[in-house]
Amino acid sequence: MCGIVGYIGKNQAAPFLLHGLEKLEYRGYDSSGIAICSDNKIKLEKKKGRLQILCDKIKDINVSGTIGIGHTRWATHGKPSDVNAHPHLSQSGKIAIVHNGIIENYITLKNFLIDKGYNFLSDTDTEVVAQLIDYLYNGNIFDAVNEAIKKLEGSYALAVLCGDEPDKLIAVKKDNPLIIGLGDNENYIASDVPAILSRTRNIFRLNDNEVALITVNDVKIYNNNGEEQNRNVTHVDWDVDSAEKGGYEHFMLKEIMEQPKAIKATIASRIAEDKIRLDDIEFSKEYLQNLNKICIVACGSAYHVGCVAKYVIEKLTRKPVEVDIASEFRYRNPIIDKNTLVIVVSQSGETADTFAALKEAKKMGAKVLSIVNVVGSSIANESDYVLYTWAGPEVAVATTKAYSTQLSLMYILGIYMGEKLGTISQEDVKNYIDSLSQIPQQVEEILKSKDDIYEIAKKYYNSQNVFFIGRNVDYAVCMEGSLKLKEISYIHSEAYAAGELKHGTISLIEDGTLVVSIATQDNLFDKTVSNIREVKSRGASIISITADNKKDKISQISDLPIYLPKTCDIMTPSLSVIPLQLLSYYIALLRECDIDKPRNLAKSVTVE
Ligand code: AGP
Repeated sequence: MCGIVGYIGKNQAAPFLLHGLEKLEYRGYDSSGIAICSDNKIKLEKKKGRLQILCDKIKDINVSGTIGIGHTRWATHGKPSDVNAHPHLSQSGKIAIVHNGIIENYITLKNFLIDKGYNFLSDTDTEVVAQLIDYLYNGNIFDAVNEAIKKLEGSYALAVLCGDEPDKLIAVKKDNPLIIGLGDNENYIASDVPAILSRTRNIFRLNDNEVALITVNDVKIYNNNGEEQNRNVTHVDWDVDSAEKGGYEHFMLKEIMEQPKAIKATIASRIAEDKIRLDDIEFSKEYLQNLNKICIVACGSAYHVGCVAKYVIEKLTRKPVEVDIASEFRYRNPIIDKNTLVIVVSQSGETADTFAALKEAKKMGAKVLSIVNVVGSSIANESDYVLYTWAGPEVAVATTKAYSTQLSLMYILGIYMGEKLGTISQEDVKNYIDSLSQIPQQVEEILKSKDDIYEIAKKYYNSQNVFFIGRNVDYAVCMEGSLKLKEISYIHSEAYAAGELKHGTISLIEDGTLVVSIATQDNLFDKTVSNIREVKSRGASIISITADNKKDKISQISDLPIYLPKTCDIMTPSLSVIPLQLLSYYIALLRECDIDKPRNLAKSVTVE
């Protein structure tokens, strides 16, 4: 996902632009650049590779000016290169633009502009927007941008700078995040909060199809009908540390360690005197009774949360729950209607496939509840109901605290619905709430044994293949454990339903193959132990994760047992995932991988 910054004010623009881009590096990128205007001339510097390359270049030349825009690019159209990096300059040199998203009709527009005599330097869709604005420009950049975006199809967050009007910046939002930071005689544009936290904590979040006209001391926001919009200032209370590493070597470890606090923050306001509250959301008993099913739709780790939630919500409500990968859901013509509740899960609230699935579901008459971490994100804004995880900014590409807080909201939702439907008793409700309330402290306890996990990682960080096996919710957690290991350590791994191994995959088990087994479900414990014996007899090395009351049974067959505090069966995922997160982190650390920014990955996948 690309990163956008902009500055207009009394000070030099370059320092903020470069600092802001540094704070957005976590989004994943392959090139970066800035454009600054002074004396009505736009100076452009952009480089392929790490941001430091651009910073070094800027140091060598004088890029002065008090208005500018900057960008970190994650390539979609056109390979990573200096010329494809943003900002893009129009042929006249008057218009500079940075963009996050995809212009789906850029070929048509490009051909039109070529016919009008425009030459293109890059392979990008973004350059087409710069040239289109240039073509439409007749002395008023605000009007030219508004005219241009009417011709665009696709998704775009834009920041636009015009050399003939160096007293204003234009920001445009459609389907991709963009905020306006409000300073004292200076204002900022950014894709995300970390970029502006060092300057201001007061922001406007732009909604879809809004255009902001930004000057040194004023911000006006307009909808696509040109009507000025009122917007309350959002005060961002994330402290700078929250967006920094807080003393840890990596954001990922910081965020793993923040999970008790994040889970507590997420559940606290939803539990009151043994009652569950879904903020301002109220589902009537009749609405819930009329539901023919619940569909959970997400990507990656958020999808794995859905896989856990299926077991949890079906157990508590006896309503059928389907779980779909968003990129599959949106194209399989799903069978949903007004009696289907669709739950979309997304940390960023900007994942393109999940956002598209949400819109598909709404088109088909379903109500959509989203579980999102970023306030005011595109998915949140388009949902009928939103339950926010209060995990705070999650910077590491590999999600941990967002996953855990999403899980806790699924328990909250399941208990709420079960109570409304009468499928669980008041005593059950109280017991589940008690169990949930203990989770933050129990996670804290597990985190205290992180050094033991590091010792285990030392034994296995050179593994070539790893299998994660479990049953029921344990299998769903295995999926998350496998993804964590793959995405940050680059070791191939697979999650497998323990009972399914003997139907083929067990042929891959050989001497020394590492098998991580999760066995937390009382009623399935003995069956999972049998599966562990199957792989152990074929030479596998076993890391087991069970409740501490299973010590006597598991210690005989497990090479490296990990014990968890006891909780109710449906909430064990919140505990069993923690050792897997730590194991992946330490293995990746020992393999000297780029843990916070793994190769090929971005924090939020805002393209298909
Ligand atoms: C998980 O560690 C990955 N970063 C990835 O699978 C992620 O969960 C997925 O892209 C969904 O992102 P979202 O939650 O922001 O929608």
